[in-house]
Amino acid sequence: MSQVVDTLMREHRFIEELLSSLEVFVDQLEVDQQEARKTIADFAEFFREFADRWHHGKEEDQLFAALGDHGFPRDAGPLLVMVGEHNIGRQRIKELGAIASGEGPLSEEELRQTRASAGAFISMLRMHIQKEDAILFPAAERALPPEVLDELASGFDDFEHTVMGDGAYERLHAFGERLIDEFPPPIA
Ligand SMILES: [Fe+2]
Ligand SMILES: [Fe+2]
Repeated sequence: MSQVVDTLMREHRFIEELLSSLEVFVDQLEVDQQEARKTIADFAEFFREFADRWHHGKEEDQLFAALGDHGFPRDAGPLLVMVGEHNIGRQRIKELGAIASGEGPLSEEELRQTRASAGAFISMLRMHIQKEDAILFPAAERALPPEVLDELASGFDDFEHTVMGDGAYERLHAFGERLIDEFPPPIA
């Protein structure tokens, strides 16, 4: 397996753990929980910073861009579907962020919206990850010459250290781990 696919798949496993943790949190959510908005804000921040900025950032700006240069149409097929799903996820996280920014305990309506947005996000991103792991990434490794995969690996490195900054991975990982500790997913 190439280094880029290995990196993206390891990130998928961590994102999946956080999706399960969000599912646990939402399942036990009730109207008058005082800390609910803060926790919704934390999950939204994790998915915005790690799943989107860190992970989808590398996919869209680097891997998908390289695939576009190597025969994958940019405005049809898998790349269009994958970017479309990233955008749907951004919308769901925005909805959760909006609820988090309100005040006081959640209303019945906000509870319903939180469950709806989180539920839609969780099932969409799980299926998205499965499609990338099973179809898109193997296709990428067949389509991209080894030297392009090597260039992508150093592009990933640059992004992680220069754009996100040294220590960003450790910080985001610790942040996610804290949510997992607080809302542990059932053992698979
Ligand atoms: Fe993706
Ligand atoms: Fe992904």
